[in-house]
Formats: sequence, C-alpha cells, structure tokens
Amino acid sequence: MRLLVAGGAGFIGSAFTRRRLQATADEVVVVDKLTYAGSLENLIGLDSDPSARDRFGFVKGDIADHQLMHELVGQSDAVVNFAAESHVDRSILDATAFLRTGVLGVHALLEAVREVTDRRRSSAGSAVRFVQVSTDEVYGPVESGVSYEDDQLHPRSPYSAAKAAGELLVRSYRETYGLDLLITRGANTYGPRQHVEKFIPLFITNAIRDMPLPIYGDGQQRRDWLFVDDHADGIGAVLDEGESGEIYNIGADEERVNRQVAEAILNALGKSHSLITTVADRRGHDRRYAMDTNRIARLGWSARMDFETGIAATVEWYRQNETWWRRLRDADWDAYYERQYGWRLAESAKN
Ligand code: NAD
Ligand code: TYD
Repeated sequence: MRLLVAGGAGFIGSAFTRRRLQATADEVVVVDKLTYAGSLENLIGLDSDPSARDRFGFVKGDIADHQLMHELVGQSDAVVNFAAESHVDRSILDATAFLRTGVLGVHALLEAVREVTDRRRSSAGSAVRFVQVSTDEVYGPVESGVSYEDDQLHPRSPYSAAKAAGELLVRSYRETYGLDLLITRGANTYGPRQHVEKFIPLFITNAIRDMPLPIYGDGQQRRDWLFVDDHADGIGAVLDEGESGEIYNIGADEERVNRQVAEAILNALGKSHSLITTVADRRGHDRRYAMDTNRIARLGWSARMDFETGIAATVEWYRQNETWWRRLRDADWDAYYERQYGWRLAESAKN
C-alpha cells in the first residue's frame, strides 16, 4: 500500500511510520509542517535503513495546503492524519493554530480524498482510505465508568473542541460523499520522543535536572496511559482491518492519577518525592478519561505494554537521549515555560 502519513514527524506519527516500515511492505510518505513539535530527528535512520529507505519519503508541507494535499493524496492508497496542535495548555494560551490545522487542515485533506476517490471510482478504481487520529478528550471527563464510541461528545478545552470539530467534518464527508473514512480515539500516550513540554517528559527531564515537578491542583486527575507503540499498532489495525465509517477507541486500561505517575518517575530516577510541587490548576481541567475498547479488540488488537514497564523504559530513554531533548529546551522553550509556570511556581513558593 502507498501510505501518506500527515504529521509523521511528531511523537506518535513517527512511531507509526517506523513500525509500519518495519512490519509491512508499505511505501510511506510523511508530510509534516515541522512546527515546534515536529522534527526530522524523530525519523532519523529511516532514510539510511536498507530495508526501509527505498520505501520512505518526506515532504515538508502544511495539511491546510489544498494543492499539495491533492498532489500527495493523488499518489496514495491511504492517508493517516496525525497532524494537529496537540497540547491542551497551549490551546488555553492561544487556540488559533489548533483551529487552523484541526479544522481547515482536515478539510483540505478531506477535499483531496474526495477528489481523488471520485476520479478513481469513475475508472473502476478504489476509494482512498482515510484515518483521522483523534483523542479520548473529545468525550470530555467521565466521573465513573467508560466512554463508548457512540457517546455524545463534550469537549471542554480548545484543543479537544478543535479535535471534535475535525471529527465532525470527517463524519460529514462520510455521510455526504460516501468516502472510506475512519476515526480513532486514543488515550493519553507516552513513550520515547514525546515533546518535553508534555506531562511525562516534562516531569522526567525536570527531575533529571532536580527542578520542581509542577503538578496541577490536587494531582488526583486520572488518565489511562497508553504506550506509544501500542497506540501506533492500534491505528495500524484500524487502517488494515477497520470497518469503513467506524470509530475506534484505543486505550490501555492502565489508569493512574497524576501524582502516582509523578512518583513512579521519581522512583525510577531515584529522586526525592519532595520535587513534586503543587501549582495552580489548569483552567477547565478534565478530571478523568476512560474508554471501552471492545470494538478494537474485535479487530484483534489489545495493548501489550503495562504502565510500570512502559514508564521505566520511557525514563531510561530520556536518560539515554539528553541531546535529543536538550535541544528542545531552548530559548523559545524558556519563554513558554515562564508563561506557563513562572507565576504558578512563584505563587506556590509563597504558600
Ligand atoms: P505532536 O505534537 O508530537 O505531533 C504533531 C505533528 O503534526 C508534528 O510533527 C507537527 O509538526 C505536525 N503538524 C502540526 N500542524 C501541522 C500542519 N498544519 N501540517 C502538517 N503537519 C503539522 O503530537 P502527537 O502527540 O504525536 O499527536 C499526534 C496526533 O494524535 C494528534 O492528532 C493528537 O491529537 C492525537 N492524539 C495524541 C495523544 C497524546 O497523548 N499525545 C492522545 C490521543 C490522540
Ligand atoms: P497532558 O500531557 O497535557 O495531557 P492531557 O491532554 O490529558 O491533559 O497532561 C496530562 C495530565 O497531567 C493532565 O491531567 C494535566 C497534568 N499536568 C500537570 O499536572 N502538570 C503539568 O505541568 C502538565 C503539563 C500536565
């Protein structure tokens, strides 16, 4: 299969690209805008790996560019869209880029899929398969129990609202044009190569530097933690086996409260729990996400990594790859860190 992977230079997209090239005979083209969150370093080795290099290509570009998407989708059998702004805290500071990529970007991709599918169908060819990578955050918080694929959406942050908007657009194209579209809703993902501003990498790299770990509010918010390779393989299962038009939850059933996660990181590094510093809560902070995963289990997928093994492997990766993450903690990072945490840490020191 000729696969177009949008946003493939980011955290999950690069893991997906790597695993797809290893496990299948697919040709993979990554298109990525290389925002602050994306990096060619995440794809290093693929262009020199003899088993992959002839099947791998990279194009720097924006998914909101209609002409480019038309050209790239025209050379593909299937598209998996990872491209998005992905950090809730940044969406609270400024949501503009979230909407641009999450709505206008998804629209440009869908238009390309529609045009290319129409052309192929008119000559008895097959539709372009499109998988939109979405998130459990579109459901909003669940106090108890789990979210099912057919539940109503209650996004509560600008990030999750942009993701829900993208999903609704995908569903509208399915209903209106009968395209071969699918949606995945993944749980909180962790593992190697996640940007250092996200919870787990931030806490690991701060702990390595003996800096405070800024935990929001009471630290009792719960997330289901899914290892990145499991998430990538779940998306692969949906691409290969998923029923057209369906939505699939991808979760690990590994719920932990944030304070437990922070403590697991400190234990793995042999650091004191006193580094955990309570700071002012995130606005509109969702308390808990949890999903039912029976639908994707019927495709033969289930998460393989347990949280204890996964967090130990992740801590070790960041310990071994300081050059990878130190370049991300640069001048732009300092400005973001100051804006997000400066006043929080100052306020916490006063109490
Ligand atoms: P990430 O921020 O690490 O990667 C996003 C990638 O998209 C980056 O490489 C970036 O350069 C690229 N990108 C952004 N805007 C673009 C544009 N307009 N055109 C082309 N490329 C663009 O994010 P991630 O954590 O790898 O998440 C990937 C996808 O998975 C996102 O859609 C996210 O909503 C979803 N998701 C993430 C998680 C998680 O916990 N990280 C959980 C569930 C779902
Ligand atoms: P995050 O990685 O932003 O994912 P989510 O999209 O689920 O919010 O954060 C995971 C959890 O960690 C979330 O409950 C917010 C919390 N958190 C902190 O307590 N401190 C931090 O500095 C960050 C970035 C997150």
